[in-house]
Amino acid sequence: MGYSFSLADIEYLTSPQGAHALEEVAALELSTRTHLADLGRVRARFGDRAAVLVETVQLRRRAAGKLDDAGGWLFTDDALQQSTPTLVARRRAARLGDRPVHDVTCSIGAELAALTAASSVVLGSDLDPVRLAMARHNVPRAALVRADALHPCSRDTVVVADPARRAGGRRTHDPARLEPPLPALLDAWEGRDLVVKCAPGLDFSSLDWAGEIEVVSLDGAVREACLWSPGLAQPGVTRRASVLRTERGVDAWEDVTDADPDDIPERAPGRWIVDPDGAIVRAGLVRHFAARHGLWQLDPRIAYLTGDRVPEGMRGFRVLDRIKFSEKALRQELTRRDCGSVEILVRGVDVDPAVLRPRLKLRGSAPLAVVITRIGRAGVAFVCEPGAVAGA
Ligand SMILES: C[S@@+](CC[C@H](N)C(=O)[O-])C[C@H]1O[C@@H](n2cnc3c(N)ncnc32)[C@H](O)[C@@H]1O
Repeated sequence: MGYSFSLADIEYLTSPQGAHALEEVAALELSTRTHLADLGRVRARFGDRAAVLVETVQLRRRAAGKLDDAGGWLFTDDALQQSTPTLVARRRAARLGDRPVHDVTCSIGAELAALTAASSVVLGSDLDPVRLAMARHNVPRAALVRADALHPCSRDTVVVADPARRAGGRRTHDPARLEPPLPALLDAWEGRDLVVKCAPGLDFSSLDWAGEIEVVSLDGAVREACLWSPGLAQPGVTRRASVLRTERGVDAWEDVTDADPDDIPERAPGRWIVDPDGAIVRAGLVRHFAARHGLWQLDPRIAYLTGDRVPEGMRGFRVLDRIKFSEKALRQELTRRDCGSVEILVRGVDVDPAVLRPRLKLRGSAPLAVVITRIGRAGVAFVCEPGAVAGA
């Protein structure tokens, strides 16, 4: 939950005294080891303000891995958790270009900051006055107003929305239980160009969406599904997977759409196995991705890909051997190879790696990987070298 900020707290934190106090507190270690002593020190210096100061410094430190240039921002714990990572927000903003835009659920402004970098006309609104006051401090270039996203208060802009994903503290897959509810939000802005960020697991079947659904991953984790209304979608595209990576300080992305070719050969397994990114699997674009990179599927119903080389930047598993899958046969094969630790990948068969691993009784020294799946009806295990990133 975290500390519950008030408007008076924000007034203090953005005052010269508050800024000075934050600087002092930021110099403290505030680790588990020093926390009690540090808190005592902050209380002695700043009395009742101690909690708001310590919380703000800790949230700023947590934000550093997710948001760029947010070292002087204000957050609540929930708002930081809900914020869009800078790389994802920046990519969305770049796609919108310099069109005027209204972020109708702007919260503390993570998405808004990226939008102001791309467009000169950016409006933000939110129902929560505390978050809005924080956004005013965090993104001074945006015009901000307190407004209900279900009652349009702007004209002629693209509308960006990011309904809150938690209902009663739990994640929800029901679009009607978001805040604001997604069906009502779509009704309210009907006819406007609209982008809505949603949870990747959301059940879109009830929406009958006519535009594009983009599934986005960041550094291997699927982060969101984003709805683009028909006026913003690329012609002919209804699904897109955007795979974003921060590699050695450089932002990289690849996107695959259902307008790309998906002709792939049916061939025997190649020298490598590639487990495609979750965004590609979730968007149903495994074949399209394979076709682009000269890969093919182990089995047409399973998302594992195979080929004789691994696409640059992707993790691949070099195949050493293929056996018919049974626990006993796998144990014998791994023992024969002096295996001491194993990464287990499973698709299409009912095997729990956490249950299987101790039963393999590995006592050797070599690290290996095993890909367990099925080809046709047969369960197979590919014994592989540990995964390696091509070009790393
Ligand atoms: C997931 S957060 C948005 C995060 C934001 N995109 C960011 O990157 O920082 C959702 C926001 O919607 C706001 N909200 C919920 N219902 C709303 C409504 N009916 N009208 C306007 N804002 C609303 C919440 O106060 C919350 O700040």
